[in-house]
Amino acid sequence: MATLKAVRGTRDLLPPETALWNRIEAAARRVFARYNFGEIRTPIFEDTGLFARGVGEETDIVSKEMFTWEDRARAASEKPQSLTLRPENTAGVVRAYIEHKLGESGQLQKLYYIGPQFRRERPQKGRYRQFWQIGAEVIGPPSSGSESPLRDAEVLEMLATLLDEMGIAGWTLELNSVGSAADRARYNDTLRAALAPVVGKMCVDCQRRAVTNPLRVLDCKVPEDQPIIATLPVIADSLDDDSKNHFAAVKAALDAAGVTYHLNPRLVRGLDYYTRTTFEFTHGGLGAQNAILGGGRYDGLSEAIGGPKAPGIGFAMGLDRLVLTLQAAEADQSSAPPTVAKLDAYVAPLGEGLNAAALQLARELRRAGLSVELGDGSFRLKKSFEAADRTARKIVILGEDELASGILTVKDFATGTQTKVPRGELAEILKS
Ligand code: HAM
Repeated sequence: MATLKAVRGTRDLLPPETALWNRIEAAARRVFARYNFGEIRTPIFEDTGLFARGVGEETDIVSKEMFTWEDRARAASEKPQSLTLRPENTAGVVRAYIEHKLGESGQLQKLYYIGPQFRRERPQKGRYRQFWQIGAEVIGPPSSGSESPLRDAEVLEMLATLLDEMGIAGWTLELNSVGSAADRARYNDTLRAALAPVVGKMCVDCQRRAVTNPLRVLDCKVPEDQPIIATLPVIADSLDDDSKNHFAAVKAALDAAGVTYHLNPRLVRGLDYYTRTTFEFTHGGLGAQNAILGGGRYDGLSEAIGGPKAPGIGFAMGLDRLVLTLQAAEADQSSAPPTVAKLDAYVAPLGEGLNAAALQLARELRRAGLSVELGDGSFRLKKSFEAADRTARKIVILGEDELASGILTVKDFATGTQTKVPRGELAEILKS
């Protein structure tokens, strides 16, 4: 029978690598707490319409990359429904914001999430069909200050801090403004006019987008189209004074905080909900998939999915890519494989008749806060010592004599010394 494997573009994350994932997630949770963010967990699948309306029909994500299925009605009371595995989490967070009327508190909502997302992309290094994001959104009614450029600058400053605390060095912040909805409409007209004489030479996707949503022509990856794209007008020239002033204030606050950035007038991002500030952090060590995170402002998203006015800004970082970046940095620093932290103790019962007593001893030690591996009485002593030396700093031997006397034999692998320890003092001795 053919063996079953993880589906293309998905993978298993195994220890010890998962320890690195946990470290990154813990650093994120720590930083989010300092900046007053609370965690939100939204469902992994949503009504397809949420992404079509939120992310945009003409985006690559919605038009090509979603895992969508028709969910049949199971009872007369249910209707069939088109469902989609979430390709990103911003639309889900804004849906939850609307559904739970979070705006009615009048307060700015600062929400973060950590979880898997799904896109049917062509898998390659750093690009998977199931991948993880750590993201955050700052959203609220305009009266909560949600439109303020200070919010944009604070999010970007937090990201610089977060990447530093995760140990990611050498990132670049690419920054742009895509303006208000009105600016974008003007820019789309400008693009349409600029594309008219040349679009016949471009790919079929671009020919369609030039009519439906010209901005999305800028996402085209077809190499032959790039020289034409390089000649198209930039969005900065279509911004009105309000948008220019907003962007200037974001940059001034970043300058004051000492966060360096690189202006990239071609950064429009592949999701339709963006307005004004857009950004990506890139890292040279990642090859083609060099964006470790992306985000921006989405002042009209709530209205686009039927909610009240609720300007917001947020980002999502690719956890898979953060891990790759840190692994590459570690590999540069030393050729030795990363050392795995050893457990406090290994309990070795001498004979199967002592297994139950060994479980009881291990329970005592674990309850005292120690990390303990439990051997098996069927192992010969040599095998127990080898297994213990691989996993733990010390071995505790439990034979009939030890059980009867309450005096246990402990060997410390680092010093090679063997000592007799009364059971009542064992946890303390193992801790030291
Ligand atoms: P995005 O740029 O589509 O934005 O994704 C954010 C990050 O997720 C990317 O920079 C990348 O690190 C990671 N990522 C995306 N696709 C893949 C993939 N196939 N494999 C591995 N990593 C991937 C968003 O998702 C927006 N929701 C961000 C946002 C939040 N904007 C405002 N708030």
